[in-house]
Parts: sequence; structure tokens; C-alpha cells
Amino acid sequence: MSNKPTRTTLTVQALHAIDEITGAVIPPIHPATTYARDADNQLIGEQDYRRPSGPTEKQAARVLAMLEGAPEAKLFSSGMAAITAVIESVPTGGHVIAQTEMYYGAKLLMQRAAGKKRISLNLVAPGDLHALTAAARPDTDLIWIESPANPSWAVVDIAKTADIAHAVGATLAVDSTCAPPCTTQALALGADIVMHSATKYLNGHSDVLAGVLATREVNERWTEIGEIHSKTGAVPGAFETWLLIRGLRTLWVRFERQSTSALAIAEALQGADGLEAVLYPGLADHPGHAIAARQMTNGFGGMLSLHIAGGYEAAARFAASTRIFTQATSLGGVESLVEHRKPIEGPDSPVADNLVRLSVGLEDAADLLVDIRQALRHGRI
Ligand SMILES: Cc1ncc(COP(=O)(O)O)c(C=O)c1O
Repeated sequence: MSNKPTRTTLTVQALHAIDEITGAVIPPIHPATTYARDADNQLIGEQDYRRPSGPTEKQAARVLAMLEGAPEAKLFSSGMAAITAVIESVPTGGHVIAQTEMYYGAKLLMQRAAGKKRISLNLVAPGDLHALTAAARPDTDLIWIESPANPSWAVVDIAKTADIAHAVGATLAVDSTCAPPCTTQALALGADIVMHSATKYLNGHSDVLAGVLATREVNERWTEIGEIHSKTGAVPGAFETWLLIRGLRTLWVRFERQSTSALAIAEALQGADGLEAVLYPGLADHPGHAIAARQMTNGFGGMLSLHIAGGYEAAARFAASTRIFTQATSLGGVESLVEHRKPIEGPDSPVADNLVRLSVGLEDAADLLVDIRQALRHGRI
């Protein structure tokens, strides 16, 4: 057995971040924006200014790079800021392929860039590798995937997608927000860049807005992204970053518990009265299950969706009737959330009218199931 501590141990200890000066077992927060120089105008320490990152952000980035098996990671002020930096790195007029189904905010951002002719954009169904191969061109600069994809949790084969991207010389970027690095290491599967909304599982407490990018190689694109990161200044505050480090320490146990509970709930709900479908990649009959079983090595996560019998109105009633699940957007926190997705995404969204999205938290799974069952009875009224 290797003596090298596992990624779990390294995460729990935040890379053994004992403060060298005081011995504090929790790293200090460094809110300073600027750093002093000596009489010869030389920096006293290693740092001159907080943008793009101060010591607290560097510490968080080191933990995230370790988790992803990446040479470098960068912290952003939100997931959207991280996505913006990747889109911004596409040369003007560059061709991008993304998904018909993915986090709708990111899709809107890309469609906006395409509308202004900044990029050209093709959307393909998540996991449709034939459509992806047909859409990929010699001038394709970026392929953007999300797996599992919001909100049907379609699973995309990262390794096969990487082969398609690399065959045309494109960069593959993966939004792995719903498959954090404790379960999927997208870079090891061949992705060039992995992105997370750290607002979700990585922080896990619904109290930090942050984003992350990590790279497989320090190359020209990563350098360009670094320039964008630094010059746009879309960086998180020190306190948020410190909270993120705190949240990350419990990532593995949180995710394991959320995955176990979500699987138990999904299995228990199959065939339940008032439900047309249960969408969860951990279910054997989910179309992406075989790929998910290979790619999500430590749990299928806490996200599942339900198609409620009775259409839009019944789904709205369901989401308004839960007592333990709070009706709110977002995901990956310790508290369970429910959301009727269609009114959030708007009429142009391909999401089904009767889909509700559940983010399973750390409450007792039996309580959550009772809550879903009573809300289903309300949905039917
Ligand atoms: C899959 C996914 N990617 C990206 C984002 C955007 O992240 P943020 O809200 O941190 O900007 C979200 C937010 O809901 C998300 O769910």
C-alpha cells in the first residue's frame, strides 16, 4: 500500500494547512489587497496585490488542483464568471459546440455571444456522439459539455467526447458541477478544462458564490484564461474563499451521503402513484447509467428529477407542497431543495413542463421520502 495520503485525507486537511506562524490548525484569512515593499522597493513576501489571487485563494486553488489532478486551478467570483472566461478565450468568430440541454444560464451566455457574432455556435443533445462528430469541424475551437446535464441528468461520455474534440484540434471543457472531483476526475478522462460552480457541491452550504477552472496542461489557452482572469478581476473575496476551503473539507462525506440518500429515494419512488418518471443516473434503467457507473466512481450525486403526472400545474403544486424540501433554485447544499424548472428557464427551454428538480441534502432520507410522498398527494388534488 502506498504511504501517500489519499485525496480524501488531503481534502479533509485542506493539504495540512497549519499556519506556520501561529500553529493554528485552520488557515487564516488574508483579506489584504496590497503587500508592502522594503526600502529597496522589493516585495517583503511573495505577493504584491490581491488580484487575481491572494494567499487564501491560492490555498483553495491548491486544494482544488489536487482534487482534480491538475497542475493548476483558478478561482472565480462565480461559476458564470469561470464560464465567461472560457468563452472569452475563444478567438473572435471561433466555432463552439455545446449542448441543447445544460445549465440554462451558460447556454444563454453562449447564445448571446453567438447572437453578437463573437462566436459561432452549434448545440447538440447531451451524449449524442454521432451528432457531435457531425458538428465537429476543423475550425471547432471549443466543445463544451455538462455531465450529468441539468435537469434530466443525461450522462455524457467524457473520454469519447475528448477523442472527438481532439480529432479536430478542439479544446474539451466539462462543466462537472454535478459530478465533483470526489466522484469524477474529468481531466483524467481526457478533458482539457474542468469547470465547477463551487457555489454547489464544492462549498456545499449555500453560502458562497464561486467558480473554478482547472486545466490538464498549462498551455496557450490556459495562459489566455489566466490573462482574462487577472484582467477582468472576476475573483472571489477572501472570506468567501476561506468558507469554500472550510466547505471543501467535508466534500467527500457530504457527497457520499447525498448520493446514498438520492439513490434510495430514486429507487423507492420508481412506479409511485403520481409520477411519470424518475430521472437519476444511478438507476439501472437510466439511459446513461452504464457510462455513469464508469465515470462517477464514488456516487451518482444528490440530483434527481421527477416527471409529475398531471403536467405543469401538478408539478407547480408538488413544488409548493413540500415541507422539508425548500422551494428554491440551486443545488448541492446540505439542505434539500425542490424546483419546478420550466418557469425558471422560461418558455423557450426544452425542459418538460412537469419536471421538478430535487437537490437531496443531508437530512434523514426517510424524512425526505415521506415529504415527497405527501407532496405527490397534494400534486394530484
Ligand atoms: C451546472 C451549473 N453550471 C454553472 C452554474 C453557474 O454557477 P454560479 O451560479 O456559481 O454562477 C450553475 C448554477 O446553477 C450550474 O448549476
